[in-house]
Amino acid sequence: MSSKYLVEANGLKKVYKLGKTEVHALRGVDLKASPGEFVAVMGVSGSGKSTLLHLLGALDRPTEGSIKIDGVDLSTLKDSQLADIRSKKIGFVFQFFNLLTRLTALRNVQLPLEIAGASAKEAQKRALEMLKLVGLEDRASHRPTELSGGEQQRVAVARALINNPKILLADEPTGNLDTKTGLEILQLLKQINKEKSKTLIIVSHDLRVAELADRTVNLRDGVVVGEKARKGAG
Ligand SMILES: Nc1ncnc2c1ncn2[C@@H]1O[C@H](COP(=O)(O)OP(=O)(O)OP(=O)(O)O)[C@@H](O)[C@H]1O
Ligand SMILES: [Mg+2]
Repeated sequence: MSSKYLVEANGLKKVYKLGKTEVHALRGVDLKASPGEFVAVMGVSGSGKSTLLHLLGALDRPTEGSIKIDGVDLSTLKDSQLADIRSKKIGFVFQFFNLLTRLTALRNVQLPLEIAGASAKEAQKRALEMLKLVGLEDRASHRPTELSGGEQQRVAVARALINNPKILLADEPTGNLDTKTGLEILQLLKQINKEKSKTLIIVSHDLRVAELADRTVNLRDGVVVGEKARKGAG
């Protein structure tokens, strides 16, 4: 039977080996997200949030446990197939925006679509639509250094959406922004989550993320220590 979850992780463990020492970053994590759900993963620094997000986003493989994305068990895939899943099903937003500094906003946004095989013209057209969606169509020709932090993060959100993924993953998206701008980015992500029915998973220690999410999962020392649905969510 196929799962009703878009993201389904079971018993995830991740051990980083550094010479003779081992860091047990995740020690058996289960996490599920339904289509269109907004899940906040909260925890202090070092609790394993980024590690978890990297595994869910097929950027890295778990030491133990399984991850299914849209019904596909990632452990059965070769690296090239993982790259394909990343490109088609998942959009990433990071704390430090990770834009290419030499490219304009427009070209940063259109690049993943071109890499996925679209023509430059087609990619540019859709990139402009995505910039419009995040309210930045009049900044298309600006380079990252010619944009505010909040604007750079909006460009990153537009880039995350360009391949029309079902899943958006964000790692501390407000971590490098002032309070007000950070809230605007969270509201933008939530708006996209609701209006475009994207599954949204944000890992953060910004408590406002938990206030906006449908469900909050608390991580501590690599294990889930609590889970809570927001009142009125669903
Ligand atoms: N590549 C790595 N090699 C070795 N240890 C790592 C590596 N990445 C993370 N760790 C360790 O794994 C643990 C979890 O790290 P992780 O980055 O997932 O935490 P986090 O919750 O995202 O923290 P922060 O809020 O500071 O970003 C930490 O103890 C960290 O030192
Ligand atoms: Mg982190």
